[in-house]
Amino acid sequence: MRKKVDFLVIGSGIAGLSYALDVAEHGNVIIVSKSVADETSTKYAQGGIAAVMYSPDSYEKHIQDTLTAGAGLCDEQIVRMVVSEAPDRIGELIERGTRFDLKNDGTYALGREGGHSENRILHHKDATGREIIRALLHKVKNHPNIELLEGFYAIDLITQHHLGQWITSKSTDIECFGCYVLNPHTKKIDTILSKITLLATGGAGNVYRTTTNPVVASGDGIAMAHRAKAKVENMEFIQFHPTSLYNPGEKPSFLITEAMRGFGAILRNKDGIAFMKKYDPRAELAPRDIVTRSIDSEMKLQGSSHVYLDCRHLDPNELITEFPRIYAKCLSIGIDIRRDLIPVVPAAHYICGGITVDQSGKTSIHSLYAAGECSSSGMHGANRLASNSLLEAVVYAHRAGVDSVKSFKNVSFNNLVPDWNDEGMILNEEMILITQTTRELQNIMNSYVSIVRSTLRLNRAFNRLGLIYKETEDLYQKSILNKDLCELRNLIKVSYLIVKMALERKESIGLHYSTDYLPENAQEHI
Ligand code: FAD
Ligand code: SIN
Repeated sequence: MRKKVDFLVIGSGIAGLSYALDVAEHGNVIIVSKSVADETSTKYAQGGIAAVMYSPDSYEKHIQDTLTAGAGLCDEQIVRMVVSEAPDRIGELIERGTRFDLKNDGTYALGREGGHSENRILHHKDATGREIIRALLHKVKNHPNIELLEGFYAIDLITQHHLGQWITSKSTDIECFGCYVLNPHTKKIDTILSKITLLATGGAGNVYRTTTNPVVASGDGIAMAHRAKAKVENMEFIQFHPTSLYNPGEKPSFLITEAMRGFGAILRNKDGIAFMKKYDPRAELAPRDIVTRSIDSEMKLQGSSHVYLDCRHLDPNELITEFPRIYAKCLSIGIDIRRDLIPVVPAAHYICGGITVDQSGKTSIHSLYAAGECSSSGMHGANRLASNSLLEAVVYAHRAGVDSVKSFKNVSFNNLVPDWNDEGMILNEEMILITQTTRELQNIMNSYVSIVRSTLRLNRAFNRLGLIYKETEDLYQKSILNKDLCELRNLIKVSYLIVKMALERKESIGLHYSTDYLPENAQEHI
């Protein structure tokens, strides 16, 4: 099938849906989403979205907290822009139907998370993302200019490469003409030609064995962009969330929100001792990279598989009111958070790097934008501040929308684009190989490219990735494509980019911590 559309949006998280609603006022829109539309990282977001709402908070404080967490690698101009545009975008989310929790006096109830010097997290209980997606999807499904294609899988961006022209990462005139998309009904690959394309494909947590991310987070957008020769950066900065529920075998790992520590919960080691003050005076509310490394260190010192989060001293009624989903989840596996310690362990959570974008969300490829977790805007530097991700996504979706609307009228469809050719391909009957290789890859990343790294470990990962890259490319070249094979290929590409950029960074900074480049002020244990 061949389709034409003004705006093609790949991904239906907060970034894709917000952008679609903006541009749909000016042209027709197709959203492709590889699963059911609400299966996104956005849906799993618990803590909330950061924004300056009332004094004594100020933009300056939010800016400084973001810069501090980012360990000197944020782009300050971008941080200032995103923080100061936050209230407008929050207003828009509310207009589109999102309900944030209110206090009795009618003002917004603002939570606190690690690295924030003020209470500034707007939330909806402990299910903020679910509420945002509910509201945005409702609007999208009722918009006459938006077609939502659920279960459709974007395979590759279309550029001059598909017209037989030679392009390299140095080319400055690459154009995006749309995308090849796997149609779940026909099992064929459709050609969608677009004037403007937005990548809003989210993160890549599934390169690791243990992650808080849903299975859709396989780095597809980053891999597609890199194959199309777009610029990609900062991939070494992988954020491990300090506290996912220790429940071996569960995938994705269930998150225990940082907001619980903001509410007063305390981390304890296996002997019941509170340990965070040993590592940082900010204790439980230190930035995420520090809390994660502290937990990692404590687990290594004690030879334990997890630590504990203690809520037993907190008001039990308030606890259940604020964190109903966490209460119910823990209870379902026999843990009553009012009386029992919660076993927690770090898990891969967020990728700070991705497709390089400018202030308008433009990538280095013409007519191609990116927003949300798949992009790298300069906002997060070497470590993202909690609850700044939903914020960055919604600000950039808007900025990309404004710019796309200005430019799409000057773009024409490229009718020379050929349809996908799968002649000579064989039906792949070795599905089990794909599953096994995916597991192998995730084990490599968990073992060698985790919270604390070294050049030796990174080199090991690099060599092992080389082998599975070759085997998977061989399979890809001769197979009729399916989603699992494409996802594996993308996971390998993203892993390769993470390891390569980690090897290139000859220092420990933020989330990239290497025992070969210990910072001068490194604490004995971390
Ligand atoms: P997503 O919401 O992940 O959406 C990606 C979309 O792209 C999905 O629809 C997916 O199906 C689609 N897609 C991907 N590849 C393809 C393809 N090849 N073809 C078609 N469709 C494709 N951040 C905060 O700021 N505050 C929080 O409280 C918070 N809590 C979090 C809790 C959890 C458990 C997790 C996992 C993340 C949390 N984050 C939080 C991070 C934040 O949720 C994400 O960074 C953000 O939601 C990403 O939004 P997005 O629109 O970029 O991508
Ligand atoms: C959380 O609720 O702890 C996650 C917040 C985030 O990832 O920003």
